Amino acid sequence: MNILGIHAGHNASVFLLRDGKVIAGLSQEKLDDVKNSATFPGDVIEVLLKQAGLTSSAIDHVAIAGKQIYPRRSYDYLFQREVTDGRTRSGLLGFAHTLEEALPARLSSLLFSPLRTLRQKRLLSDGRKELEEHLQAAGLAQTPRTHIDHHTCHARAAYHALAGQGPTLIFTADGSGDHVSATVTAVDEAGHWTRLGVTGEGASIGGIYSATTRFLGMRPLEHEYKVMGLAPYAKSYADAVYERVFAPAVDIDPRNPFRFTSSLDTRKFYDHLKAHAVGERFDNIAAAAQRLIEERVLAWIQSAVAETGIRRAYFGGGLFMNVKLNKRIQECDHLDHTHFLPSCGDESNALGAAYAIAAQDGATQPLDHLYLGMAFDAQEIETCLNVYSERLQLDITRPDDLGGKVAEILAQGHVVARFAGANEWGARSLGNRAILAHPGRMESFFTVNDQIKCRDFWMPFAPTILDTAAPRYLKDWSMARTPAPHMITAFDTLPPGRTELCAALHRGDGTLRPQVLIRDINPDYYDLIQAFEDKTGIGAVLNTSLNLHGKPLAATPQQAMDTLVNSGLTYLAIGPFLVRKRA
Ligand SMILES: [Fe+2]
Repeated sequence: MNILGIHAGHNASVFLLRDGKVIAGLSQEKLDDVKNSATFPGDVIEVLLKQAGLTSSAIDHVAIAGKQIYPRRSYDYLFQREVTDGRTRSGLLGFAHTLEEALPARLSSLLFSPLRTLRQKRLLSDGRKELEEHLQAAGLAQTPRTHIDHHTCHARAAYHALAGQGPTLIFTADGSGDHVSATVTAVDEAGHWTRLGVTGEGASIGGIYSATTRFLGMRPLEHEYKVMGLAPYAKSYADAVYERVFAPAVDIDPRNPFRFTSSLDTRKFYDHLKAHAVGERFDNIAAAAQRLIEERVLAWIQSAVAETGIRRAYFGGGLFMNVKLNKRIQECDHLDHTHFLPSCGDESNALGAAYAIAAQDGATQPLDHLYLGMAFDAQEIETCLNVYSERLQLDITRPDDLGGKVAEILAQGHVVARFAGANEWGARSLGNRAILAHPGRMESFFTVNDQIKCRDFWMPFAPTILDTAAPRYLKDWSMARTPAPHMITAFDTLPPGRTELCAALHRGDGTLRPQVLIRDINPDYYDLIQAFEDKTGIGAVLNTSLNLHGKPLAATPQQAMDTLVNSGLTYLAIGPFLVRKRA
């Protein structure tokens, strides 16, 4: 049975499952080169079907993530409003909008509720119409179709992708989706699912974090990781901001320990910050927001464990992209086993929707790796290189041992980009679309940051660490309990880690966000790092995503070459070729 899971909206993505096994997965951003693209992923459907040697008539079921489908324009509006504070609207509509935003939550909801209902109805009807047109164009309009609610997608993706087994608890949390911001589900030994708690979007812990991101002048739904990165630089007086501004905002519902409650509507949290946080230091605000999510989520987990006695847990939804939160959860005594879905934002909902349908029919198979995207053969890569070498001065060679050559260049202290095999699914590089550097030299940090990535100065890089070296660098790491293969959790660092991986750790708190690699998952990448270890004694490399500032992780040879050409990068190992850009 072939199932196509589709998430249309922010981070639009598609997954193809055959008989419960993931065949391929790709996000629209990889094709249109727009980070978190919300364009309907029609091109992705075409690419995945072609890659699998299928036509649309071979698809038995289409699983759509989300019950509520919004039209494309609503995502443009969302960002415009978030970024510009609604100032772009003018005239009567602008005045009404300003009034609606300015009024206290209760009054605004009372006065504008009929207008909002109408607006919502129209949006959803337009969204459904657009979806129908897109499916028609993809040849899928007549295929049996099911809509799976947003948080069920998050939960299904985490549970099935990570080889879920009962009895277990599944926690989902995000800004909101289908009007829900968090859920807890119990799965028993026989595999029966029971939803124990649902939190609405008015008590959204993820919504608070996004509003804080916006308040700090960064892009919500995208730059939350920057707030997390900033938080460790705050001093203890961030506690005052936490107690006064953040702590009162949300708590565990005393009537239902599986859900959150809020004394204020968290959809108005940005206004709350404007009223109470102006004048507070930016790092203290970041630290207070981080403390809030850590404390409330840990309390939520502890109550759920206390109520059910279940000590194995799975986590999905955008909130769990926060690796510092995940670190606290992983260290929590209440749980014996913790499983975090990599790239668990809405891009994972195409996967969750497909798994939800597959699970109705029989067994699902977990993801054994994330290299699920597009691969290019040597011929295709060479054709691309030829186009670039016509107008640029490039030295292109084909070394016998490319991995060994890259390790040698890295050991000399140079930075090398790597494009190999199929692109990894999700937001983080797992080595196939990567920029690599020597992790034990601080110059690596400055070179990659200043000449290539142009990131904010407080943001750390991360390492890929060989499984054999992980116990030397990571505190409390174990392959059985905390394997960390996807850069989705963080660890405190042991002394050798602080020196040998100094360019790849968070300088504010000394933590590492590693990809711990076992050879079976990616043999060529593993051997490259092992060759680097043979030369330097360091069993790890600094690994950051192959992209330019503000762009998605590269997927195609052309995107990789554009990154080489438009940055301070000198070396790119692409397919079997080593490209050196002449100064
Ligand atoms: Fe979500």
